[in-house]
Amino acid sequence: MGHIAIFTDDPGWHGRQLRQAFSDLGYASDFVSLTECKFTIESGALPIRIPGFEDMLPDAVFVRGVPGGSLEEVVLYLDVLHALKATGIPVYNDGHAVERSVDKGMTSFLLHNAGLPTPVTWVLRNRENALAIAEVELKAGNMLISKPLFGSQGEGIRRIEKMTDLFWLTSSHGVYYLQRFVHCEGEGFSDNRVFVINGLAVAAMRRRGKFWLNNVARGAACELIELDPELALLAVKAANALSMDYAGVDIIKDKAGNYTIIEVNSIPAWKGLESVCDVNIAELLAGDLVNRLICKETTDALALEL
Ligand SMILES: Nc1ncnc2c1ncn2[C@@H]1O[C@H](COP(=O)(O)OP(=O)(O)O)[C@@H](O)[C@H]1O
Ligand SMILES: [Mg+2]
Repeated sequence: MGHIAIFTDDPGWHGRQLRQAFSDLGYASDFVSLTECKFTIESGALPIRIPGFEDMLPDAVFVRGVPGGSLEEVVLYLDVLHALKATGIPVYNDGHAVERSVDKGMTSFLLHNAGLPTPVTWVLRNRENALAIAEVELKAGNMLISKPLFGSQGEGIRRIEKMTDLFWLTSSHGVYYLQRFVHCEGEGFSDNRVFVINGLAVAAMRRRGKFWLNNVARGAACELIELDPELALLAVKAANALSMDYAGVDIIKDKAGNYTIIEVNSIPAWKGLESVCDVNIAELLAGDLVNRLICKETTDALALEL
């Protein structure tokens, strides 16, 4: 029987769903915290040590969570993901994809670099420059969003609406990430979350925030939407721009009716999405990992032996 490691510190509902989906495909899986993984660089021993996989490394790893921590700690966790991939083990999503998407500055750059629509954004270190940018934007009638470079679930996001808000403009560990606020179309506040797996948009929902923050973790309500081809294509291109096996893509439709990509998540949750649609996301994810990445490895190895 194959054996998969699911990296997470908080398995919960998603962990149970994944375990069941892997089990249905004939794979056992174990939850492991990246904080418990280590390197032992010594001849004759497995260099990457994962609890529960001491004798044999997993057939694949599913990354459901990367803990926060100091720069050194996070680099170590990413090193484990990079090292596993370097030894030929499928890592879903891989360390590079996680690295790029956890960093909102790099995400914005890569989206823009791929020619995809994303709001006007500044990422910088200098406070005077940050204040000057904000002042010019406010005077031009725009509002700004200030985000922590490594945040998620709406944490630490602020809206700068007027000059007096500049008093509390704070950096995130020395870095300012400022983005022009996009007014969404329609009544109230909403954006779209599109779930992409292996280049296919498999489901989407509209998230309606209680205020301008449309994260489900902040109480936004989920509504199923038809996947219109333009929205689906944009989400797929966003996932490709960040080289992700799967992604949760946040896209706002502005007042003029144009879509703009806000964020591409490499470790997206899907409980909210599944509450409004019939798609079994865990099954699709497990199927993609097993059939496309693990079985491909096996076929390649057999071809080499022949
Ligand atoms: N430029 C923006 N204009 C309007 N709303 C935004 C903008 N950026 C973020 N938001 C709102 O804040 C939410 C969270 O922002 P996001 O960049 O996705 O960070 P997080 O990783 O915390 O989810 C978005 O889903 C959206 O509702
Ligand atoms: Mg988001």
